[in-house]
Amino acid sequence: MNATADQAIRFVLDGEVVGVSGLSPTTTVLEYLREHAHRTGTKEGCAEGDCGACTVVLGELDGDGVRYRAINSCIRFLPTLDGKELVTVESLADGERLHPVQQAMVDQHASQCGFCTPGFVMSLFALYQNEALYQHNEKPGRDAVVEALAGNLCRCTGYRPIIDAGCTMDGYASPARWSRSEAQSKPHVDALRNLRRDASLALPGFRAPHSVDELAATLDAAPDSLLLAGGTDVGLWVTKHLRELPPIVYIGEVAELQRIDVDKGALRIGAGVSLTDGWQAIVAKYPALAELAQRFASPPVRNSGTLVGNIANGSPIGDAMPALIALGAQIELRHGARTRTLPLEAFYQGYMKKDLARGEFVVAVTIPAPRTQQGIASYKLSKRIDQDISAVCAAFVLELDGDRVAEVCIAYGGMAAIPARAPRTEAVLRGHAWESATVERACAELAEDFKPLTDMRASAAYRLTGAQNLLRRFFLEQSAHQSALRTHAAEVSA
Ligand code: FAD
Ligand code: FES
Ligand code: FES
Repeated sequence: MNATADQAIRFVLDGEVVGVSGLSPTTTVLEYLREHAHRTGTKEGCAEGDCGACTVVLGELDGDGVRYRAINSCIRFLPTLDGKELVTVESLADGERLHPVQQAMVDQHASQCGFCTPGFVMSLFALYQNEALYQHNEKPGRDAVVEALAGNLCRCTGYRPIIDAGCTMDGYASPARWSRSEAQSKPHVDALRNLRRDASLALPGFRAPHSVDELAATLDAAPDSLLLAGGTDVGLWVTKHLRELPPIVYIGEVAELQRIDVDKGALRIGAGVSLTDGWQAIVAKYPALAELAQRFASPPVRNSGTLVGNIANGSPIGDAMPALIALGAQIELRHGARTRTLPLEAFYQGYMKKDLARGEFVVAVTIPAPRTQQGIASYKLSKRIDQDISAVCAAFVLELDGDRVAEVCIAYGGMAAIPARAPRTEAVLRGHAWESATVERACAELAEDFKPLTDMRASAAYRLTGAQNLLRRFFLEQSAHQSALRTHAAEVSA
């Protein structure tokens, strides 16, 4: 099974290059670790990205250094490790010398049954190795620790000792190989550089093209292939629905798709850009979307999953779409040599049905530049704050002319078979005074735009009332914001 032949999956594990071949391309990293590499420190809890027990860390070349990010190994297919460094809980200690994260967990009594502990250790390890955080000698504060652990569940400890371990791990000296400078050093970087391939990886049932042209040609030749991005939706088709997948074409190695570009203020996010990086770029331009970004899944899911994957999956409760639709996002598609552009709201044609031909793929999503005086908000209604699927997700973009509504875009997820705008509700607001009476008429009109369903997440009545209240919330928040601006302007001119 271990082979160094060129058709093997090759990655770095504990400083050694490992070559694996002969396994199904949908073998998960967790299955490989536990059943083939007999590294059983990484646990399986849910096999769907929800509990964090299976957390491992991936190292990837990032400029002259290595960027370490936590991922869920239970929904990550093994061939996507090719060319990367895999770090598991067995990798951390140096002989008897524990890693600072491990020592801090011991000292804070942060483990009881211990089943979740390796996952927590790896999420904290990813934070500890996060070079960017430490460049300015910042120590991750409690908020950064809590955020890093948003994808980890523990049934025993009550979390406080674990968070305390995260807040104190910097107080310990690190074993040489994981000192931050060492981890960014030549050996780690060179090991990854030496794994670079000239030709793209081609395994039975798995291709990883290196360019958009190669991707287009591969899909043109085999249009019924399954396009794989981060696998955070697709992974569950295997681990939970036990589906056999068609041959996989993986976009994670297509260099052009990993880019984020800004053109005259508009943001162009490539199909291979992770949710972590995509949301970071969006929130930098639209700070009002920060809460939505943070409540989208968890850091390990956001590190693997892609923004375009959310769009292309096209779930009626996909959280990225309402905001992107309300902002007027466009998607670029490619089919063989042909390309086209489409407003995102026109992409969805019915439940999980998209305007996407066989062999066609999304290249990028483009989000217009922010306009001054835009009032923007997106709200997510779900049972849990972290790591939960929306019952309703709403997005509002408003432009006022004095106290009149000059332009308004309203979009909802969870209210219909597709993420969609609320045209009748917008028409009640457009051109009218931005005041409570108008908003109440618009809330009533929402019932004409959407006939929501009842399902295990929410009743139809809950969804409609929730959607109306989110519009009221937006009105109250924007009105408070407008009056604060007027007060400030009056003070400045006085
Ligand atoms: P993949 O799983 O790789 O692909 C998804 C689908 O899109 C596949 O059909 C694939 O063929 C297709 N596809 C991908 N890229 C392209 C492309 N460029 N062109 C054409 N087709 C393409 N989603 C939310 O909206 N909100 C959440 O809070 C949320 N929480 C989650 C929590 C957990 C634990 C998990 C496991 C998932 C969660 N998700 C959530 C769903 C999922 O993470 C997102 O939909 C993610 O953005 C999918 O991206 P991906 O790259 O993993 O897609
Ligand atoms: Fe639960 Fe992977 S086993 S997140
Ligand atoms: Fe038992 Fe966390 S220590 S689940």
